[in-house]
Amino acid sequence: MSKISAAITAVGAYVPEYILTNKILESMVDTNDEWITSRTGIKERRILKGEGKGTSYMAIKAAQDLLKKSNTNPEDIELVIVATATPDMQAASTAAYTATHIGAINAFSFDLEAACSGFLFGMSTAAKYIESGRYKNVLLIGADKNSSMINYEDRATCIIFGDGAGAVLFQPNEEGLGLQDEYLRSDGTGREFLQVKSSGSSYPVTAETIAKKENFVFQDGKTVFKNAVFNMADVAGKILKRNNLTNNDITWFAAHQANKRIIDATAKRIDLENEKVMMNIEKYGNTTSATLPLLINDYESQLKKGDTIIFAAFGGGFTWGSIYLKWAYNSQKTN
Ligand code: COA
Repeated sequence: MSKISAAITAVGAYVPEYILTNKILESMVDTNDEWITSRTGIKERRILKGEGKGTSYMAIKAAQDLLKKSNTNPEDIELVIVATATPDMQAASTAAYTATHIGAINAFSFDLEAACSGFLFGMSTAAKYIESGRYKNVLLIGADKNSSMINYEDRATCIIFGDGAGAVLFQPNEEGLGLQDEYLRSDGTGREFLQVKSSGSSYPVTAETIAKKENFVFQDGKTVFKNAVFNMADVAGKILKRNNLTNNDITWFAAHQANKRIIDATAKRIDLENEKVMMNIEKYGNTTSATLPLLINDYESQLKKGDTIIFAAFGGGFTWGSIYLKWAYNSQKTN
């Protein structure tokens, strides 16, 4: 029997309707479109509005888009993983709520938190269940409502982040397509450079932490930038080397959309042409766990069976890694 590999066989996405443009941000903080565009590549981001709507709202919509497009019966799904840094609430699993609401009544489910590397680590996790031979349908969703932890008076962070969700279905493949290799890393000494200090058990939310605005994202942008470029290039380079891949073998580079300059610099370090670099940061900003599935969704119509895709991500923790995947199908879409 040939080895079972784990392939992506369907994609779906959802972004909220409300568009927060650079122009609108100019009226909120001391910034301007030129600064934001030249430093980050971001033009606009989506924000989820509406009382009581959390990350699961977008996760459910992205999953429903996938189910509809691929004509998948939710009752066939055995596992739902929601990668997120902004779960609906502490203690209750966002994935459990999501799974039930999409009709995946035969699935078990759990959340996975690895900040901006959450979806990448989720790809690795989903693939292991498939490769074991025990599971045939694993739904991986990356979803984040970053606006829930952003201070819209802090120009250093509010220009970067947006809300959104994307979903992929992993299924067994016996043609050798799907996930080929991975190199995943973390380093907890990076925690001080990117965090929401008062959001968990070490500094529970109090009136005092709120007054100090510690319930919002803090980041040391320069340190994060340097580490992101160095580490994403390092792991992607290692993946290429140990799989004997040259840049001619790579069809696409799908990097976490944190900053266009980070992506460009990483691609340059591994010697990749611009045309191979997937990019949609201008539309959504940094959507944390959702950037990679939103990229795949936007590029789906251009992907062909057998395409070589190198994924890379970097995020809070620090967490980072790279995955080498062979695309498993030709899109039916004509756009
Ligand atoms: N509009 C206008 N000016 C701004 C600004 C904004 N939104 N934000 C900061 N500035 C100012 C700073 O105050 C500073 O002014 P000064 O020189 O008078 O002190 C100047 O612009 C340069 O700031 P700096 O922080 O050095 O800019 P930068 O080139 O490092 O860009 C980031 C800032 C945040 C865009 C960049 O560091 C970055 O993208 N870092 C990585 C962030 C990231 O990707 N995080 C998620 C990782 S998963």
